[in-house]
Amino acid sequence: MEPVIKQDFSSGELPSESQLAEEFAEFAYIVSHDFNAPLRQIREFSRLLISKLEDKLGDELGEAERKYANFIQDNIKNAESMLEGLLKYSRLNTRTSPYSDVNLTELIAEIRHILQRQLAECNAEISCSSMPIIRGDYGQLKQLLYNLIENAIKFRKKNDIARIIIGAELQNDMWRIFIKDNGIGIPYDMHDAIFTMFKRLNNDEPNSGSGIGLTICKKIVERHKGQISLESAINKGSIFYITLPVETNISLK
Ligand SMILES: Nc1ncnc2c1ncn2[C@@H]1O[C@H](COP(=O)(O)OP(=O)(O)OP(=O)(O)O)[C@@H](O)[C@H]1O
Ligand SMILES: [Mg+2]
Repeated sequence: MEPVIKQDFSSGELPSESQLAEEFAEFAYIVSHDFNAPLRQIREFSRLLISKLEDKLGDELGEAERKYANFIQDNIKNAESMLEGLLKYSRLNTRTSPYSDVNLTELIAEIRHILQRQLAECNAEISCSSMPIIRGDYGQLKQLLYNLIENAIKFRKKNDIARIIIGAELQNDMWRIFIKDNGIGIPYDMHDAIFTMFKRLNNDEPNSGSGIGLTICKKIVERHKGQISLESAINKGSIFYITLPVETNISLK
């Protein structure tokens, strides 16, 4: 697989941000597309192999062999979801919508609806106070809040009801939006690392994803000229803060 270089930068002229973004999107597309085909083959043939072995050996197929087979399947799934995440990330600069006024109260209601099964399964509670209207890319702002709320549900303490509080306040010329949970928390020395691609702290979490959600959040916030940060400690829950610039004609709803 050869990365496609469309432009000759040898003249010393630096590529623009959008040229780089396009190159990266194309590169990520090729990586994810080309890696998917062999992965699919590995998945299918390892499944076939284990089913043949089961036919042949029946109960004699040992625990260890079954464990190895599951291990292969799980790792293929992980690799596929990492590639999917990489593609999603690469498209943040290229698949955009024109900015519109996005009502965050309505957006959170939609996200709550999408996540209703997960919320019901663990009796999680979301309380949300008045939220502003933000000028931005509707799809990306939805992805941003979805990722953070999903994390707040996913990384709850197993024996406690997850309580998630979402709110916003005006600070100088910025909206400061917060998503607070009472979950397992994040050690202080990992507060930067969790925003890097594929970094996960709870690898044994059964529903855990590929570790790209927060990398995507950071990118979306930066594209909207804002910042993302957090306060968290092990067993003390987490608060994620997003600051976004206040635009004219936008009010609390
Ligand atoms: N609210 C939270 N409470 C505790 N830990 C968290 C929270 N949010 C994120 N983390 C930790 O940070 C890691 C990175 O989060 P991120 O959202 O990028 O990945 P993920 O949720 O594991 O996978 P993905 O979002 O790609 O499905 C998580 O794996 C988890 O260990
Ligand atoms: Mg996540």
